[in-house]
Amino acid sequence: MMKYVIAIIVCIGAVTCIDPLVLTKNGLVRGVESEDSKIDSFLGIPYAKVDVQNPFSATLNVEIFEGIYNATDDSVICPQKDDLEQTIVGTLDCLRINVYVPQGASSTNLFPVMVWIHGGGFRRWNSNRSTYGPDFLVTKGVILVTFNYRLGPYGFMSLNRSNIPGNAGLRDQLKALEWIKENIAAFNGDKNNITLFGESAGAASVEFHILSGHSKGLFHKAIMQSGTVLCDWVMNDPDTQAPIKLAKYLGLNTEDIDNALKYISKFDPHDVNKATIDIGYEESFKPIVEYEFENVYTMINDKPSNLLKKMFISIPIIIGFNSKEQQRNINYYLQSPDYIESAKKTFKAKIDNYFQLGEDELETAEKLVRYFYIGSEDMKTTVNAMIEFDSDFTFVYPSLRHSRYYTQVNSAPVFLYMFDYAGQRNYMKNRMNLTMEPGAMHADEIGYLFDQSFYTQPDSVMDRIIIERMTSMWTDFAKTSNPTPTATKVPFSWHPSATEPKFDYAVLSDRVQMAQHPFYQRMAFWDTFFVTYGKKTRW
Ligand SMILES: *[C@@H]1O[C@H](CO)[C@@H](O)[C@H](O)[C@H]1NC(C)=O
Ligand SMILES: *[C@@H]1O[C@H](CO)[C@@H](O)[C@H](O)[C@H]1NC(C)=O
Ligand SMILES: *[C@@H]1O[C@H](CO)[C@@H](O)[C@H](O)[C@H]1NC(C)=O
Ligand SMILES: *[C@@H]1O[C@H](CO)[C@@H](O)[C@H](O)[C@H]1NC(C)=O
Ligand SMILES: *[C@@H]1O[C@H](CO)[C@@H](O)[C@H](O)[C@H]1NC(C)=O
Repeated sequence: MMKYVIAIIVCIGAVTCIDPLVLTKNGLVRGVESEDSKIDSFLGIPYAKVDVQNPFSATLNVEIFEGIYNATDDSVICPQKDDLEQTIVGTLDCLRINVYVPQGASSTNLFPVMVWIHGGGFRRWNSNRSTYGPDFLVTKGVILVTFNYRLGPYGFMSLNRSNIPGNAGLRDQLKALEWIKENIAAFNGDKNNITLFGESAGAASVEFHILSGHSKGLFHKAIMQSGTVLCDWVMNDPDTQAPIKLAKYLGLNTEDIDNALKYISKFDPHDVNKATIDIGYEESFKPIVEYEFENVYTMINDKPSNLLKKMFISIPIIIGFNSKEQQRNINYYLQSPDYIESAKKTFKAKIDNYFQLGEDELETAEKLVRYFYIGSEDMKTTVNAMIEFDSDFTFVYPSLRHSRYYTQVNSAPVFLYMFDYAGQRNYMKNRMNLTMEPGAMHADEIGYLFDQSFYTQPDSVMDRIIIERMTSMWTDFAKTSNPTPTATKVPFSWHPSATEPKFDYAVLSDRVQMAQHPFYQRMAFWDTFFVTYGKKTRW
C-alpha cells in the first residue's frame, strides 16, 4: 500500500485501511488501488462547481465534502454530442479531476506531475480512462492528472457582458490548475514540477494558459500536440444573439437577452445542446477575445498573434504535428462531386475564416493557393493535394509559424516534432476505419502515450517500441526539461530549434532522427503568402 501522510493517521482503527485516502483542501478522498498495487487512481473528484443560476459563466468553489468522498467513478462527462452514438450525453455537474499516482511516490519522494487537457474542438470529449489511461506514463515515475471542462454553449458562450464574458471553459481549466497546485502535494506530487500537455483544442488551451498571464507558477513546462492558438479553427467572434436564437428554438420568442438566458438556463443541457446542433451552431462556441469588464479577469484580452509577441511566461516547450493530419478527411475530398468548384470553395472558406480580406483580395488569395496546390488538375490525381493543403493550413504551418515566434521571445528551449508512425494504435485511423492510409493522422499519437482500453489485438513489437519511446521522451521532458537526456534509451538526441529557424525537428516514426525544414516547399509558399496577408489575420 502506498503512503499518503493522511492515510497513516486515519488508518488507525479504520476498517477500510487498504483504500488509498488523501486529505485535499475540500476534505478526504478515497481512491482505488490497482490489482497489482502499482497505481492508485482517484477518479472524478469535483474541483469546481457550475452555477446552476448561470451555467454559462464562471465557476463556483466546491463545498467541503461531507465525510469521505469516494473518488472511484470517472463516468461523469460534460454535456455534448456523442460522435459514435449520435446522442446527447453528459451532465452539467461535470467539473471533475482524476489523479493517478504510481508506486514509489511518497511525501519524501514527490513525483513530477503531468496534467493533460483533452481535445475535441472545445465542444466534445472528456478525460476518462478509456481514452486517456494512465499506465504507460505513470509507470515511468510521474503523476498523471486529467480533467473535464465545460464544452460547447456552456463552455464558450460569450455575450460581451460582465456576467457572461466568454471562455468559461478556459476558466474551468484555470480552476483545475489552481486545484492541482493546492492539492497535488497531498497525492505525493511535486507542485513545483508540473508539465501541462494537451492535444488539438487541448494544445491550444495549454497555450492560452501560457499567454493569459494568470498561470504563472501553476506549471513549468508545456507540450502542445497538433494545436496552437494560431490555428484557424481555434477562435471565433462572439455571437451575442446566441441565447435569443436558442430560446426561440426551445419555444420562447423574445428579443431580450436576459429573458432568453433565464429561459435556456432552466432547460436540460441535453435540450440546449440539441438545439445548438439543430440550428447549426455547434462550431460557433469557441474561445474569443474578451472585452475587459470591471472586476472580471480576462483569459484572452488580445488576438493570439499579438499575445505571442508579448509572451508572459518563458518555459521549455515541445510542440509538434502529425505527418498526415487531415488525411482523416480523405472521404470528404473523394466524395466532392464537382472537384474544382468544391476545392475553390474550400480554399476560399478557409482563407476567409482566418484573414480579413476585401472581395478582390480574397479572390486573388484563393487563386494563389489553388494554383500552388492543385493547378488545374483532375480530382483523382489531386485529392492528395487537397489533404496537403488542409493539413498545412490547419495544423502544420501554424505550428511552424508559432515555433518561430517562440524561438524569438522564449529564452527556454523549444523542441519541435513530427509524429509519423503508422501502427495498430493510431487512434484516429482506427476510429475512422482508415487504417490503410499512410502516415499519422490527427490524434493518432495519443494511442502511444495513453493506455487506451479499446484495442483488442495485442500490440506489435514495433508498437511497444513506439510506446516506450514516446512515453520516455514525454516523461523525461517532464522531469528534466529535455526529452532525450543523457541517460535516455531513445536512440537519438533531440535538440531544440535554433533562434534563426532552420526548423530543426524530430521525426518520430519507426526511426527517430533529427531533420530540418519539414515540407519546406509548402512552408515556403505559406511564408510568402504571409508576407502579403499576414497582417490581416482575424486573430
Ligand atoms: C464510499 O465507499 C464506502 C466503501 O465502499 C462505502 O461504505 C460508503 O458508503 C461510500 N460512501 C458514499 C457516500 O457513497
Ligand atoms: C468513459 O466515458 C464513456 C462515455 O463517453 C463511458 O461510456 C465509459 O464508461 C467511461 N469509461 C470509464 C472507464 O469510466
Ligand atoms: C463589447 O462591449 C463593449 C462595451 O460595451 C464595446 O465597446 C465593444 O465594441 C463590444 N465588442 C463586441 C465585439 O461587440
Ligand atoms: C471498415 O472498412 C472495411 C473495408 O472497407 C469494411 O469492410 C468494414 O466494414 C469497415 N468497418 C467499419 C466499422 O466501418
Ligand atoms: C523535477 O523532478 C525531477 C525528477 O524527480 C527532478 O530530477 C528535477 O530536479 C525536478 N525539477 C524541479 C525544477 O524541481
